[in-house]
Amino acid sequence: MKAANFLNLLLATAVVLLCAKLHFVSPRAPSPAPAPAAAPAAAPADAPGTEPGAGPEAADRLVIDSTGLAPHARGFGGPVPVEVEITNGAVARVSPKMPNGESPMFFEMLEEAGLWNAWNGLPVSVAATARVDAVTSATYSSKAAIANVRAALASVSSARRRAEAAAGTGTAGGDIALPPPSRDAMPLGRALEARATHREFSSEPLSSQELSDLLWAANGFNRPDAGKRTAPTAINRQEIDLYVCRADGAFLWDAEANVLRLVTTNDLRGLTGRMRDGADNFALVAPVALVYVIDKERQAMQDRPEDAAKYASVDCGFVGQNVYLHCAAAGLHTVFLGSLRPDEIAAALALPPTRFALFAQTVGKPAGGGAAANP
Ligand SMILES: Cc1cc2nc3c(=O)[nH]c(=O)nc-3n(C[C@H](O)[C@H](O)[C@H](O)COP(=O)(O)O)c2cc1C
Repeated sequence: MKAANFLNLLLATAVVLLCAKLHFVSPRAPSPAPAPAAAPAAAPADAPGTEPGAGPEAADRLVIDSTGLAPHARGFGGPVPVEVEITNGAVARVSPKMPNGESPMFFEMLEEAGLWNAWNGLPVSVAATARVDAVTSATYSSKAAIANVRAALASVSSARRRAEAAAGTGTAGGDIALPPPSRDAMPLGRALEARATHREFSSEPLSSQELSDLLWAANGFNRPDAGKRTAPTAINRQEIDLYVCRADGAFLWDAEANVLRLVTTNDLRGLTGRMRDGADNFALVAPVALVYVIDKERQAMQDRPEDAAKYASVDCGFVGQNVYLHCAAAGLHTVFLGSLRPDEIAAALALPPTRFALFAQTVGKPAGGGAAANP
């Protein structure tokens, strides 16, 4: 058995032991749901413990029964429990759990509106925060069903985190687990004094601890119980993914697990920043280029499309300022970048059409080893 497959098995077993609500389903049981139609291209990197291209015998499947997980979510007839099936880290099927207090007529309306398919194919971490609209004329039932799906997905996320912690790792080949972030920054006033754009960098890599501290400050979970982060987002959409581009590859930062998920071993730093005439491209010198990727589906502003670009830009700005202030406090240099090549980045990261790179930010140590900020 390959190491990654063994890890899958270990992880799935630990998840089952840790969460009484989860029922392990034999991988050989026939799936009642079709395969996810359009899983985002980054899905393998977002599915801890899975291996791109792994066959069905390596698949781990879980069915989560939401009964009791969302006690305040009620339809007309009472609770609306659902079953959520997860295969290889992505949602494969959502369906009402029977018996159910809600009448069959309402379920037919939800079925016709395509509600049960709304999460299909999405990695658990994405599905957990995906915006899914209520169904007109079945508002109570659909809202209760949506709340149950969210509760089920939240339970698997937290169970997975606990299982990964128990197993001592949540990483697949090429992924990098980061140490817990430290929060011993200098006082805010001093950091504000020192905040500045710098374009002179040393090529010295950042340590895992420095990277962990940086990413947590940028957009980490500062209120994990509420699922909220250090940077605000409009309507709490949390639509920004942080990619960490280094000489050894580009990684999607899994903020929940604090793991860098390997996406490509190519060096994409050169797709950020722009060389001024005759100048070295600082983005190729600095060890880290953060790329801020917007997920339009998570943002889901169909009713107000004119607001989508505005909110995405502002949301990125908050992350960027967090990075500026953290760098000032930690003695690092940084420059926020509107100059990047989004099309080439999208191709290199295999982003689906619903995601795009909006801004980037170069981070590294000061050239010459000097401190960027007063201690
Ligand atoms: C939205 C935005 C886009 C930026 N794009 C670039 C860029 O593409 N290249 C660059 O060298 N600096 C870029 N900067 C950095 C600005 O040039 C810098 O913040 C400005 O000169 C003020 O300097 P300060 O940050 O030290 O106050 C950008 C800043 C912002 C806010």
